[in-house]
Amino acid sequence: MSTFSFATVIVAFVVSTYGHDCTKYSLTPSDQSIIDMMKHYLHTSRKADCPVTPSKQDIGVTYVRWGKKTCPEKSDIVYTGQVGGNYYTNKGGGSNWLCLPNDPENGKAYSYSNDGLYGAEYQINSSNNPSGFPASLYDKEVPCSVCRRKGKVSVLMIAGRTSCYKGWKSEYSGFLVSEYKSYNSKDFICMDGDAEPLDNRSSNEEGALFYPVRAKCGSLRCPPYKNNTEVLCAVCTK
Ligand SMILES: *[C@@H]1O[C@H](CO)[C@@H](O)[C@H](O)[C@H]1NC(C)=O
Ligand SMILES: *[C@@H]1O[C@H](CO)[C@@H](O)[C@H](O)[C@H]1NC(C)=O
Ligand SMILES: *[C@@H]1O[C@H](CO)[C@@H](O)[C@H](O)[C@H]1NC(C)=O
Repeated sequence: MSTFSFATVIVAFVVSTYGHDCTKYSLTPSDQSIIDMMKHYLHTSRKADCPVTPSKQDIGVTYVRWGKKTCPEKSDIVYTGQVGGNYYTNKGGGSNWLCLPNDPENGKAYSYSNDGLYGAEYQINSSNNPSGFPASLYDKEVPCSVCRRKGKVSVLMIAGRTSCYKGWKSEYSGFLVSEYKSYNSKDFICMDGDAEPLDNRSSNEEGALFYPVRAKCGSLRCPPYKNNTEVLCAVCTK
């Protein structure tokens, strides 16, 4: 350790004594042409390593708008589809919700028993619908859209608010939903407050089921939260 530091000091000393650290010399024309040649060489050989500065049009963020077939006005649609998820009583398998495209490219059929991908259904009716949420969606399947907002670099879902913080723009807002608490576990997602059905079918086919979530005071501090209230959410970009 001390040998190393000593060596470092020696090297530093030698470099500072013999190294050409004066800066006030003038460049001769031939110096300049060497510099130009080297610059040209570096420029052509390293071009591929240069970071491309993206234009404001190239950058963007994507998010899923759950419950809608369209994207908000200022976002472009990447694709629209149907919400998929694991069967509500399965113990294993996926716990996230998927936005499955309407134009899938399907693999080959096989008989292995792990049939773990189902369509999602709204389980939201007049007995549990958050304010303004259409109760007529009960048992209907759920659409989704993958949206891209150009010119933004951050996207954030906030559970507990329906409006975004200063400097952020709301893409959509709605209600926090997930699988029912006694069924298998799934993610919380932000369902659009103006959700629509996938189509007109409403047979109770089951699958992955969406229920609204309400706040429970205790470990969750009240105030600021409020017991038994529907949990609002917003998707914000900046
Ligand atoms: C409403 O939804 C609840 C919760 O899923 C369910 O228990 C109840 O049977 C439903 N009622 C009607 C009228 O569909
Ligand atoms: C549902 O049915 C109505 C009347 O048949 C039709 O106008 C509408 O487009 C259908 N909606 C969907 C989502 O298929
Ligand atoms: C919240 O509501 C539940 C159900 O109504 C009740 O049992 C519980 O005591 C309430 N908690 C608080 C902190 O008010």
